[in-house]
Amino acid sequence: MPLAVLAEFIINGPPPWMPDPWLLLKAGTGLGALAVTKRYMSGAASTAERVMHGRVVLITGGTSGIGAATTYEMARRGAQVVLLTHVAASDPFLVEFIEDMRERTGNHLIYAEHVDLTSLHSVRQFATRWIDNAPPRRLDMIILCAATLTPPDGSRTETAEGVETTWMVNYLANVHLLAILSPAIRAQPFDRDVRIILTTCSAYIGSPPLDAVLDKKDWSPGRAYARSKLALMSFGRAYQKHLDAYKRPDDLPMNARVFLVDPGLSRTPGTRRWLSRGSLWGLLLYVLLYAFSWLFLKSPEMGAQSILFAVFQESLIRLPGGRLIKECMVVDCARKDVDDEAIAKKLWESSDKLIERVEKDEAVRRARAKKELEKMEDEAKTAEKVDEIESLLDTIKKGKANEAKKSAASSKKPKPGGGKAAR
Ligand SMILES: NC(=O)c1ccc[n+]([C@@H]2O[C@H](COP(=O)([O-])OP(=O)(O)OC[C@H]3O[C@@H](n4cnc5c(N)ncnc54)[C@H](OP(=O)(O)O)[C@@H]3O)[C@@H](O)[C@H]2O)c1
Repeated sequence: MPLAVLAEFIINGPPPWMPDPWLLLKAGTGLGALAVTKRYMSGAASTAERVMHGRVVLITGGTSGIGAATTYEMARRGAQVVLLTHVAASDPFLVEFIEDMRERTGNHLIYAEHVDLTSLHSVRQFATRWIDNAPPRRLDMIILCAATLTPPDGSRTETAEGVETTWMVNYLANVHLLAILSPAIRAQPFDRDVRIILTTCSAYIGSPPLDAVLDKKDWSPGRAYARSKLALMSFGRAYQKHLDAYKRPDDLPMNARVFLVDPGLSRTPGTRRWLSRGSLWGLLLYVLLYAFSWLFLKSPEMGAQSILFAVFQESLIRLPGGRLIKECMVVDCARKDVDDEAIAKKLWESSDKLIERVEKDEAVRRARAKKELEKMEDEAKTAEKVDEIESLLDTIKKGKANEAKKSAASSKKPKPGGGKAAR
């Protein structure tokens, strides 16, 4: 039968219903090119696997984009995931997100803790609560995925504590969190494979130098984002050295490793906000041109692959920490200043100073606000008491006036038998 069809095709040419073979060839080539481009742009997939049952993972940014995809993969493998979120754990959207994640992964060990990365105080409150436990809590992994990126024509903003927002969320909050959690990381038993994952972005390559301050007039969303990521990488390497320098009571080497991970350009809510410039028109354009972002950007799930590689790949723990991972491979950093110890030291010290200054100022501000509140409460209580006494006095006065009226009225009434006596 196939031979007969083939013979018919060769002898009489293609049947009239069949499209032009040349057109078919062109369409096939186009579709093939599309498939190859899509496959290439989706990046490498991690094949690493690891049992996650019983492991405790802290993750920031675990509710959106790449972080949510990472949370799903870890929860699916049985990890206990603690989402550090800037909305309260009782937020209805967060509750729904967690319930949905629990249902999809069949894992009920997914929780949320409130940590607002725009506030050093919020970070301290969570981290001190975490380390304030004896014996130290189990901690296998910290994944720092949260980040903020101001849309291209957005202006510079500061947090309520007075720190530039991009620097605070993408860099300083992570530094503060890891600094406070350091004793908890170092206290983990030697046989525990502890990993700290810092997400970066290839934008770091174009960052202004770290030893120069990014002042207000030079600020742009792109520069601020790139610099925060470069600083995070420099800190990540310095933090590994800080961990390695710790002398464990059991004299064994440090078992915690820092990994810097570049997930690659992905179609996440953050990218959408950036591409659409946070405007409705931008969003409409994004929807109309969605085919381009589908083709050229990774899905959040593919964006999470390099993070999952850093989480699951067993052999990585045998390498020195501070490595950069991209496309599920260990790669070199494109900036020399990431390894410059003098710059890292200066950055660490200036970050420490900034944190100390802001925390002191905030503590004073909170103490003042508390005093002010107490004063207002005292004043309100005094005013309440004064009102109470005044109303009591009023009542007494009214009572006395009534009594006086009554006695006046009774004195005007003719006394019984008074008439007879007159006669
Ligand atoms: N997407 C990319 O193309 C790309 C490329 C390279 C690198 N990266 C890096 O990969 C990581 C994930 O990116 P993404 O695009 O998936 O992020 P995303 O969709 O923008 O999500 C950011 C996450 O950070 C959280 N977050 C923001 N501000 C916070 C705050 N003040 N306190 C606590 N959490 C806060 C958000 O919480 P809410 O959802 O509650 O606001 C959200 O979960 C980031 O570090 C990013 O820099 C991304």
